[in-house]
Amino acid sequence: MRDENAPAIRLADYAPADFHIHALSLTFELEPHATKVRASAQIRRRGDHSRPLVLDGAHLKLLRAAIDGADLAPGAYTVEPERLIVPDTPNAFTLTTEVEIDPAGNTALEGLYVSGGRFCTQCEAEGFRKITYFIDRPDNLAIYDVRIEADAAQYPTLLSNGDLIESGPLDHGRHFALWRDPHPKPSYLFALVAGRFSALHDSFRTRSGRAVQLGIYVDPGDSDRARFAMDALKRAMAWDEQAFDREYDLDIFNIVAVRDFNFGAMENKGLNIFNAAYVLADPDTATDADYEAIESIVGHEYFHNWTGNRITCRDWFQLSLKEGLTVFRDQEFSADQRSRPVQRIKDVKRLRARQFPEDAGPLAHPVRPTSFIKIDNFYTATVYEKGAEVIRILKALIGPEAFARGLAIYFKRCDGMAATVEDFIACFAEASGRNLAGFMAWYGQAGTPHLKARGAYDAPTQTFALTVTQMTPQTPGQGEKKPVPIPLKVGFISAAGAILAGRLAGGEVAREDHDLVLDVSEKTWRFEDVAQTPIPALLRGFTAPVILDDGLSEAERLAQAAHDPDAFTRWEATQAVARTTILAAQNDAAPKADALAAAYARTLDRAAGDPAFGALCLRLPDLAELIQISDRPDPEQLYKAREKVRAAIARALRQRLTEIARAPSPERFSPDAQSAGARALKAAALDLLAGLGGETSHILVGAFAEAHSMAEQLPALEAMGVNGAPQFDAALEIFHQRWRSNPLVLDKWFSLQAAAPRPDALARVEALRRHPDYEPRNPNRVRALAMAFAQRNLAAFHAADGAGYAFFARVADESDKINPALAARMLGVFESWRQFDEGRRGHMQRILTGLLADQQRSKNAREIIERTLS
Ligand code: TRP
Ligand code: ZN
Repeated sequence: MRDENAPAIRLADYAPADFHIHALSLTFELEPHATKVRASAQIRRRGDHSRPLVLDGAHLKLLRAAIDGADLAPGAYTVEPERLIVPDTPNAFTLTTEVEIDPAGNTALEGLYVSGGRFCTQCEAEGFRKITYFIDRPDNLAIYDVRIEADAAQYPTLLSNGDLIESGPLDHGRHFALWRDPHPKPSYLFALVAGRFSALHDSFRTRSGRAVQLGIYVDPGDSDRARFAMDALKRAMAWDEQAFDREYDLDIFNIVAVRDFNFGAMENKGLNIFNAAYVLADPDTATDADYEAIESIVGHEYFHNWTGNRITCRDWFQLSLKEGLTVFRDQEFSADQRSRPVQRIKDVKRLRARQFPEDAGPLAHPVRPTSFIKIDNFYTATVYEKGAEVIRILKALIGPEAFARGLAIYFKRCDGMAATVEDFIACFAEASGRNLAGFMAWYGQAGTPHLKARGAYDAPTQTFALTVTQMTPQTPGQGEKKPVPIPLKVGFISAAGAILAGRLAGGEVAREDHDLVLDVSEKTWRFEDVAQTPIPALLRGFTAPVILDDGLSEAERLAQAAHDPDAFTRWEATQAVARTTILAAQNDAAPKADALAAAYARTLDRAAGDPAFGALCLRLPDLAELIQISDRPDPEQLYKAREKVRAAIARALRQRLTEIARAPSPERFSPDAQSAGARALKAAALDLLAGLGGETSHILVGAFAEAHSMAEQLPALEAMGVNGAPQFDAALEIFHQRWRSNPLVLDKWFSLQAAAPRPDALARVEALRRHPDYEPRNPNRVRALAMAFAQRNLAAFHAADGAGYAFFARVADESDKINPALAARMLGVFESWRQFDEGRRGHMQRILTGLLADQQRSKNAREIIERTLS
């Protein structure tokens, strides 16, 4: 598999293919180790007559090739490891190929593979070439018909994209199904599933009256656990009609859950394939975060039907055209289904946790990258999450009406196309009458802009002058940065918490908030009629993905935390106080946590009104965030400082936190946002109380014992891990006994222990890796062990002796031999290595260099390691 000179693919080199495959008929004879795929492709020449036909294909055994029914002579074509070349072809013809593949031996989980005894596919981005020879790029749109033949007893369900045309029995106990998808699509949206499933069926009537049959296919016996996903699907379909004017366009929509999957889910036309973790839920086995993720991912994949499928990408550099826009859409969906401010805060937390470090390190790349080696490595937080922020910025810059008109133009004009970011933006330029050339820098420029804001109040004239500067740090390959247009939402309160309206100089009316745009390096705004010294909030609602230094004092932040009308600003102010409290506690024996405790006390006063929001405020900033904002972080020391603050808060608020933790929960479980909010508040209380060691263990143990849903039990168990309760191990044992046959709950059992900040954390993860339930071939299980350790147990992962890194590297190395895409993603945990002290840096560098030295290292992993070290 070694390919040292894997060539980089460049955006600048894009050229249309010389041929177009406009229709494809596939026949699959399914056998686990020897599946035959016959393909009949209708092909037209587009380019120059001297050009050969070049098809992508990998790991295929070619049995036969024919043009217009005549077998090709051996000299008439060349088979390369990743291509089939036919130098001489007519201008319009049918190419028939027959290949053999080994789905059961496919551990990379790309192409056609077997999971839990069932066949399934994953073709994005370049997996279709592992199924048959094809022009495997997103700008080749074709209509497909798919005939599946398989043993009827073992594979009773046979699914593909589009409509079921025919099905029936065959000789020798086999049967077949014929599917046809009338919508032209790129190969990455192809899907096939065969196996034994339980199905949950339902239906949806679109607003124009189309009756759509809905099916969710899961493990036999599990269909009741798909009810929440089904409900989310119907809500997503209705919401897309109402919020984005988008209707579904086939008579069938199916979802299939599989256990071995590299990602969350995949939007194949009419046949979404999901990681089972994002389909199955019931009160006994799912946390509130699980329900939320299911709703959001079911929505996300469904919304791709328009943003991705009807309008797809010209090339993979345009990936954010579908992903950024679809994440924006799923975030809006969740905001409308739940609480908008709470959703926004969660999205910002995720952006900061995943995308900011990426943008600040060696893997930084623009939302639209300009070159790649393995496209799988660019399914990143930048393309997805920052891509969604860029759409949000666009909406803020041109306003919601022009934004809606631009989208309408896009859906009409680009329907059926493989489009570019330019095609997309042109619709908004037209709808708004604005020149959006400056805005394009958000797609082309990597790095998180740093803003610095300072204000000066002049009491005699009641004028407030606000000066804001922007600076984007250098990123790999981009030394020069230009200013980007940054929307700000600015508003003022007084020290006592009164809202202060102000009138922008030159403006007509006083406003409580001001939509401003910083589109140069430095700008000063003057506000008049500001009655008192204002405490300015600049990024109400977090209007842009930037790092803001606003220079506010602790007293000003406390006033904001208590009184700013914007929920995001109140949360952010509370977090800022917590961050400074913890950072300062690194140097003090006793932390100075009075101000934070006072802010939390006020949060508790109001928590009954919006418990989900209260819970977010009461969560101490994660260790990962504290590491990120420190100059030469010492994770072990930061961990201790955070624990000191946790203990101080718990001591100060013990009585009230205990009351919340002990409040009885309703008999009947409901996953709705309101009920989830109450549980989140309880979980936050347990998490703080965990800081008092033996004094509070009994509260956590009680919460564990009395929980009547997984949503309550898991946070209690997590808190026991933080607390060091002696009953932790016994509780884990009970948990394992009860759930040993449920893979998704076992994943929780693994990740919970891998993330538990126990002094013997490393020995625990070593033991878990040898546990009979550890499955190196199952990505969820590998992530539950290794990623939970590296991302959530940071003091242990960053142990000064390097043992945490070494453990992780052994797991990643094992994964690379099985599943390179998974391993490459795992190795991203080293992206911030340069931030650390010499000792830790040295350990990480040696480990990465060692991994690189292995001749068998995959292309995927190699690209990530080389970019990390460069
Ligand atoms: N398009 C998918 C999504 O965002 C992502 C995806 C699913 C994917 N499976 C993958 C990307 C495998 C790369 C490889 O919903
Ligand atoms: Zn997506």
